Order: sequence, then C-alpha cells, then structure tokens
Amino acid sequence: MNPLSPNGECFPQAVTAGPGEHAVFIVYRLKKTPATLDAVKDVCANFAALVRSMQNRFPDQEFSAVTGFGAEAWSALFPERPKPAELVPFREIKGAAHTAVATPGDLFFHIRTRKMGLCMELAGILADKLKGVVEPVDETHGFRFHDGRDIIGFVDGTENPAVDDHVYRFAVIGDAEPEFRGGSYAFAQKYLHDMEAWNALSVEEQEKVIGRRKFNDVELSDEEKPANAHNAVANLGDELKIMRANMPFANTVKGEYGTYFIGYASTFSTTRTMLEHMFVGEPAGNTDRLLDFSTPVTGTLFFVPSFALLGELGE
Ligand code: HEM
Repeated sequence: MNPLSPNGECFPQAVTAGPGEHAVFIVYRLKKTPATLDAVKDVCANFAALVRSMQNRFPDQEFSAVTGFGAEAWSALFPERPKPAELVPFREIKGAAHTAVATPGDLFFHIRTRKMGLCMELAGILADKLKGVVEPVDETHGFRFHDGRDIIGFVDGTENPAVDDHVYRFAVIGDAEPEFRGGSYAFAQKYLHDMEAWNALSVEEQEKVIGRRKFNDVELSDEEKPANAHNAVANLGDELKIMRANMPFANTVKGEYGTYFIGYASTFSTTRTMLEHMFVGEPAGNTDRLLDFSTPVTGTLFFVPSFALLGELGE
C-alpha cells in the first residue's frame, strides 16, 4: 500500500528525491544537558515549516531537507515511545579485507537544493536552534559532478527504483510498521577514494569495477561483467531495492576525494544485506572490487520519521 494517506497524515520526508545539485550532510551527537530535549523538540516541531518556507521563498530551487535520529538518541529522547523495529546502532561489518565501520551519530540532516547558499541557510538555522546541546560529528558538502557522476567518474543512481509506486515501496515504510508509516531507514556512509590507485587503472579496468561503461553509462553484458563488479555484488534483484542519493565531495588541498553514500529504505535489512555482500561477499570472499579503491570512514543508521510523526515528537 502506498504510505501516503489521502489526507497526507503520513506524508514522508524527501526520502525519494534525487541527489540534487548541492547537498549538505550533517551528523551531530547530542549532549546530555537540561536544555537538550526542548531544543530537539523545537527542531521537530518547526522542521516542516522551515522546509516549507524555503520552498515557498525559492520555488524554482528544488529545496528539500530530511532529518533523522540514531537509535540511542531515539531511546534517550522519547523513552515512552515505541522504537522502529530495525532502529539499532549500526553493527560494524568486518570482512577479511574490508570493514564497514560503525560510527556514532544522534541527529542527521540531509539538505538538498540547487544553490549551496540555500543549504547553508537552513543548516545555520538548525545550528542556532541546537546551539549548546550538540557536538558536531561531521558536515560534508556534496556537489553534482558533470552529468551526475561520482568523483571516480561514473554516472551514479541509474538503477534506482524509478516508477513512483516502486520508489515509495522501497524507500518508505508502509504496512509492515503501521506506527511508523511514512518513515524511512537512512544509512549514511562517507567514503574516501584512493584516486591515485583508481586513476592508474585503464578505463576498461574501471568499467569492470563498476559494471557499466564510463562514457555512456551502458551496463556491461553478463559475459563482460566480473562477479565482483560493484553492480553485480550490490544488486539483490528487482524486489530488493533502496533509494540512493549519493553525492561526490572533495577537498583538493587535503587530497580528499570521496562519495557520501546515503540510502533510504523501507527496511534496513535490504541495505544491510547489500553491505554484507560488498564487504564479506556472497559467496564469502567475492567482495566488491570498488572497495579496493574506496574506504568508509563513517557508518550510521538513522530513522527518518514521517512529517506527521516529526510534528508529534515536537509536542
Ligand atoms: C564508494 C561508494 C559507492 C559508489 C562510488 C557507488 C557507485 C555506484 C555506481 C556508479 C553505480 C552504477 C549506477 C547505478 O545504478 O546507480 C552503483 C550502483 C549500485 N550501488 Fe553503489 N556506490 C557506492 C556504494 C554503495 C553502497 C554502500 C551500496 C549499498 C549499501 C550501494 C548499492 C548500489 C546498488 C544497489 C546499485 C545498483 C545495482 C544494480 O541493480 O545494477 N552502493 N553504485
């Protein structure tokens, strides 16, 4: 069933939107202070209006923003409320060669729009509201690269669920968790790439790592595609998809080139299975070749409530 009820009571946050032109990803930890709960409630109560205001003020800028909670924060802030079934702190996945690290995070914001200045306007308002009750974990600024490519030069997002109904089914919680209908599980994972090693590969070798042609994004045939190509390993079939909105980021003076992976799913088990296939392999040992050039430095699971539930959390 479509999680959108006719009166919009379970209206999801923008978990089905595309990656956009600019994106800012922010992760905070909460401090234990007497003011923490009220400050977070203030953000919850006002988040929809803050987003709406930006959308009204800049109607052609495709503004959207998402907020979510880590498992520990949810329990600490809302002890009287039930917890989404799959909201637990992300458990590290350790394969023989690669590790998907687990890192802390209580509050998550993903702000997207056509102009970086507008991302920063909302980010600044949120920082003001949370002043004194949070400590920063990470802020990453992503940008659209050429025609929607990763910083490693491949078009990203092609095999996302496309038809509206499918996007909702895969990205937004429906009947499986009625109390959390309209919500989503967001997994955020910041990767750094070894660009020297990557650029030392020929284009043909890089195409075997991703499983698609670099220039025109055409998928390699079954005969051409190695079993450890990224799109072979991460592909769980047509019935198990997630909505990805990855963004490249870079800091040239630090020599940092990366991908901020963000995947929204109606059930986290789908995302976790993809990660297990990438980091451990299925069968074990068939790990994702992309990981030979990409190392995750964060990994955190968040629950993104529907706008209706977010409003309730603010009461
Ligand atoms: C370094 C980080 C990553 C990069 C640069 C990256 C890049 C890409 C690219 C270029 C594609 C092919 C185009 C497309 O269909 O979107 C792709 C496909 C895909 N990726 Fe990733 N990805 C990364 C991490 C991940 C992670 C962590 C997951 C899952 C948790 C994931 C899941 C998928 C899936 C499901 C597909 C589609 C496979 C198919 O059905 O063909 N990716 N990725």
